[in-house]
Amino acid sequence: MVHIAPDDVMAHDVAIVGGGLTGLRAALLCAEKGRSVAVISKVHPLRSHSVAAQGGVNASLNNATQAGKDSWQSHAFDTVKGADYLADQEAVDILCGDAPRAVLEMEHMGAVFSRNEEGRIAQRPFGGAGFPRTCYAADHTGHTLLHTLYEQCMSHDIDFFEEHFVTALSIENGRCAGLCAFDLASGEMRGFEAGAVLLATGGYGRIYCHSTNAYINTGDGAYLALTAGAALKDMEFVQFHPTTLFGTNILISEAARGEGGVLLNAKGERFMQRYAAKAMELAPRDIVARAIWKEVQEGNAHEGGYVDLDLTHLGEERILERLPGIRQISIDFAGVDPVDEMVPVQPGQHYSMGGIDASNDCRTSIPGLLAAGEASCISVHGANRLGGNSLLETIVFGKVAGQTMVGMTKEHMVHDPARLKDLMRREADSIGHLTDVSRDRTVAELRRELKKLMFHHFGIFRDKGTMKLGQLRVHALRHELGKAGIDDIGKSYNQAVIEALELRSMLPVAEAVAISALAREESRGSHYRTDFPQRNDQDFLKHSMVTMKDGALALTYAPVRLGRYEVRERVY
Ligand code: FUM
Repeated sequence: MVHIAPDDVMAHDVAIVGGGLTGLRAALLCAEKGRSVAVISKVHPLRSHSVAAQGGVNASLNNATQAGKDSWQSHAFDTVKGADYLADQEAVDILCGDAPRAVLEMEHMGAVFSRNEEGRIAQRPFGGAGFPRTCYAADHTGHTLLHTLYEQCMSHDIDFFEEHFVTALSIENGRCAGLCAFDLASGEMRGFEAGAVLLATGGYGRIYCHSTNAYINTGDGAYLALTAGAALKDMEFVQFHPTTLFGTNILISEAARGEGGVLLNAKGERFMQRYAAKAMELAPRDIVARAIWKEVQEGNAHEGGYVDLDLTHLGEERILERLPGIRQISIDFAGVDPVDEMVPVQPGQHYSMGGIDASNDCRTSIPGLLAAGEASCISVHGANRLGGNSLLETIVFGKVAGQTMVGMTKEHMVHDPARLKDLMRREADSIGHLTDVSRDRTVAELRRELKKLMFHHFGIFRDKGTMKLGQLRVHALRHELGKAGIDDIGKSYNQAVIEALELRSMLPVAEAVAISALAREESRGSHYRTDFPQRNDQDFLKHSMVTMKDGALALTYAPVRLGRYEVRERVY
């Protein structure tokens, strides 16, 4: 039985769901403009997945002067090409045009970036980039940025609700008027009224096994938006990072290759020569991940399915200075020291290019509801994101979302307290139901099955037959959830309840991936179909849009907003 909290409903100008970089950037802007802000996060903000970002943040600062002259337009071109032309070019211009300002702003807030010999912010090469434009703090860039923003937020009067799981949005007369959340500590429901709600909840990577993502990345924001009536865009585009540690799939940053690391198969061959002769290990991620998987399939990899990342030629000093985290992870989790041993790596799920359909100013189709960061699809990454553009998206579009929300204060609230209370009661009942259903299976079993199924049926290489089977099973799992239960009936810190709520998010999100992937009969970016190996601009240069009606998902398409960059073949 879940109760309603005594201080049951609070009102703020702005409610931000998610305490990662995007949410905090938006919160800071709104607080600076005098708005009352609630940040509601299922974990402590410093445990958000942003903290795990390693390699860096892209901006055409032009600090690597030996490499020639960079520009934000070159950055935009690389981004559009890397995206396999599915990105909306106007949104990419905003991202790349604002990047130098956004990075310097973070530095002025106190983020300590690594420096080059001239004392400027250091920049390293990254995949798919024509210049060394990835600014970094050794290999813990996300950690550095997140702590900086959190410190800034602490100096403002922002209300943080940590360990609160948002279970539903309150939509009144077509407008988002607030939300209700389950307080993990007290086991009670709490309501939030707001003039605007921002979903900054991160991606849906954990619908897959073998993922670099934090366990919290379960697509909760996508679920909230979908069930409230907004569309999910380009969900089939799921990024696999080429280098995750064999065994645990912990991220081994692209920075390792940016610093000069090379990939070798079990025969000692530098196999990227055969897949991207010019860019080699610094081709975009979709290409490198496929190359490694191909080596595995063709029997050129080590037993178990991994290749070697060789950093030994970089030398101890450089590894300690630029890649200290990678070295420690390799020692702790694989028992190898990259200073003198190879690191065993394999591709793993890493990023969600798809997400909640949002405009350049982060509005969804529901007035009062915004989305930004990995939770959203604005769409700056198209079919494949370049490394270093994700942190950038958080600080650029987090601020944009904040600016949009400044004009949406409490006065915009469509105020019907009874409706929110009703919603809270319904949500409380549905959580209570989780602990008293007649159980066919446990939530944990269903979760495990889903993750494996997504990896094997909607992985790096896809085909119709395999995906069709997968889609049917995901659909069936959605129905089985109604009869699945949990063992823990405790009130406080019931993690089993959270896992059940997460699975409620994961299943329709996974089905949206499945439907979109099956229907896209072409290969583009991260979506590779062995039965349709070519890109097909004629029929598929368009965004997939999934909506929900009465629990059923429907797929339509929307045009890609092209711009100055002509659609061409991608050669690296
Ligand atoms: O490889 C990395 O450090 C990851 C960077 C990114 O996903 O942007």
